[in-house]
Amino acid sequence: MSLPNHIAIILDGNGRWARAKGMPRSYGHVVGCDNLEHMCDYICDLGIKYLTVYAFSTENWKRSEEEVRVLMNLFRRYLRRVEKKAVKNQMRVRILGDKSGLAPDIRRIMEELEEMSAGYDRMYFQMAINYGGRDEILRAVQRIAADAKAGLFPEGKPTEEEFARYLDTADLPDPDLLIRTSGEMRTSNFLPWQLAYTEFYFTPVAWPDFHEEELHKALEAYENRDRRFGDALSKEQK
Ligand code: IPE
Ligand code: IPE
Ligand code: MG
Repeated sequence: MSLPNHIAIILDGNGRWARAKGMPRSYGHVVGCDNLEHMCDYICDLGIKYLTVYAFSTENWKRSEEEVRVLMNLFRRYLRRVEKKAVKNQMRVRILGDKSGLAPDIRRIMEELEEMSAGYDRMYFQMAINYGGRDEILRAVQRIAADAKAGLFPEGKPTEEEFARYLDTADLPDPDLLIRTSGEMRTSNFLPWQLAYTEFYFTPVAWPDFHEEELHKALEAYENRDRRFGDALSKEQK
């Protein structure tokens, strides 16, 4: 079976899943968080090298104050737990997104986590928190402009590689497979640059119900795709 090297997941549907059970949306976030912990271990055991998940978008600040507070508290607790997972799975953890928009204590936990796991290479786990793809591109452009002024960026038209080095995903391969749970068929500002040739898989199953068997359905669909990278032949056919 040919497994994707890099899976990206838009973790969607927590709120609707909980409401359907007559529970508050926050319950869906708690269960969704537990499921992420579980599925991350499973994906690591499968030998998949890169997992990138969308946990909070730059647009999600528009949700109710109460829901944002619940989510931020969950991140506080979850990021602590990920530290233990990083050791267990020998997993390097990186946070994508604009950390400057987050509370100082959350930033500190994120930075500690990135630092303590920087030497691990069995698996690479990225969490997008306060992430927006357009925001990422604008932040890259700002940093390029500053570097250009200081003479640190090559003059003339930059190559795609030179530009991508300024994105939050610098050094990461592009995702091979994007999964979005819970029926929505859009990318909601997730990795617009990096998903240019990614295969998309949409499922009506909500994130809290997305377990091993649902992942295998996505992997099977991926295996049957004829991958192209902007040329007529896929890389394997060459
Ligand atoms: C995904 O679930 C989690 C976040 C976006 C933080 P939602 O909260 O979007 O749940 P639905 O889509 O409203 O059901
Ligand atoms: C996308 O889901 C963001 C995350 C999963 C973190 P949303 O539920 O926020 O996206 P929309 O509002 O359906 O586009
Ligand atoms: Mg949603």
